[in-house]
Amino acid sequence: METSDVQRGLEDVVALESRICLIDGKHGRLIFRGYDIRDLAAHSTFEEVAYLLWYSRLPNAAQLAELHRRMAELRVLPDALARTIDSLPAGASPMDVLRTAVSALALLEPEETRPGASSIGGAQRLTAVLPSILGRFHRHRSGGRPLEPRPELSQSAYTLYALLDKEPSKLDVRAMDVALILHADHELNASTFAARVTASTLSDLYSAITSAIGTLKGPLHGGANERVMQLLEEIRSPQRAEEVVKAKLARHERIMGFGHRVYKVEDPRATILREWSRRLGEEKGNLSYFDLLAKVKEVVYHEKGLFPNLDFYSGSVYSLLGIPHDLFTPLFATSRVAGWTAHVLEEYDDLRLIRPTAKYVGPTDLVYVPIDERT
Ligand code: SDX
Repeated sequence: METSDVQRGLEDVVALESRICLIDGKHGRLIFRGYDIRDLAAHSTFEEVAYLLWYSRLPNAAQLAELHRRMAELRVLPDALARTIDSLPAGASPMDVLRTAVSALALLEPEETRPGASSIGGAQRLTAVLPSILGRFHRHRSGGRPLEPRPELSQSAYTLYALLDKEPSKLDVRAMDVALILHADHELNASTFAARVTASTLSDLYSAITSAIGTLKGPLHGGANERVMQLLEEIRSPQRAEEVVKAKLARHERIMGFGHRVYKVEDPRATILREWSRRLGEEKGNLSYFDLLAKVKEVVYHEKGLFPNLDFYSGSVYSLLGIPHDLFTPLFATSRVAGWTAHVLEEYDDLRLIRPTAKYVGPTDLVYVPIDERT
């Protein structure tokens, strides 16, 4: 095997066929089950997009109402899980809390008794309960009021209510809906691939989602959105953007929120989120994030020819919604769980153990020396 045969990071390796998501990296297009992300962001809701990902078609009004009813039921935390979340350290990473809570839920809902087990019912359970896990933890660590199930609220409205402990405005709910739609799936990104590798061994749905949550936490993947806000805090004003960014690039540091393994032009999700960052900033009288982001985008493109990805703008939208920075990546997970579960179910339907090979470059034929003869 030649070294050139090795595709580090599996770059450009086509690992499987899928009917869930198409990314056209050359033209900056993103398709969920045949629908352009721009149409879904303009006209759909997160609940409707979750239905599309799981059932391969858009729901009619009755089907969507039934999905909402079911997910409102499934957002309720089992008492034992609520107590487990309350026992976790207030300083715990919210991504570690999500990962731990999904693992604990698996113990409380053994495979044979789970809502729908490893099927769409399980997908609905996990998608419905993640915002409740996050809301319970955040309210407990910040001394907030008890979390009510609020079945009348959509998943997006409930997510805002769960985290902020207040009634969200229509504009804020729409902004959250669009953000959750945009984050719902993205073909074989690292966390989705982790979920499919787990499922390909015939492990269960909850284990596959635990794998995915651990993978999404990394700053080169889902963790970038929090780090973009840390970068903006470091830069502080548009006048300092060029100096700070150039210094980082000179030290060969990555500028968080830029670049993508597949997109060679701007990530279409970034285009949509930039508009929401401006719209919310105008509505709330705070365009400081938007102005800073615009300057950083200009400098990074000039210096490296790189385009923003969705993490570059999502943090400003979440900040304008009043969400704490350390909940940004967990929010990503509350949306991507719809895509993760759709991919896991697709893997179960057309199962093939995922097991690439490595090119061994170490020594061979070494002679074993007894320990008392070793120096
Ligand atoms: C997400 O895969 C998905 O679909 C992910 C995602 C999804 O929806 O699931 O889209 C979500 O994870 C978006 C990406 C969030 N991560 C970041 O914003 C972190 C910063 N970005 C980079 O680390 C990087 O762009 C990656 C990890 C996203 C992609 O890296 P690649 O494809 O492995 O590219 P590379 O590391 O080989 O870089 C190619 C060149 C290098 O230059 P040279 O060393 O060859 O001169 O581009 C440079 C890199 O140095 N480069 C960057 C850069 N990204 C690439 N330089 C500075 N800052 C960056 N952000």
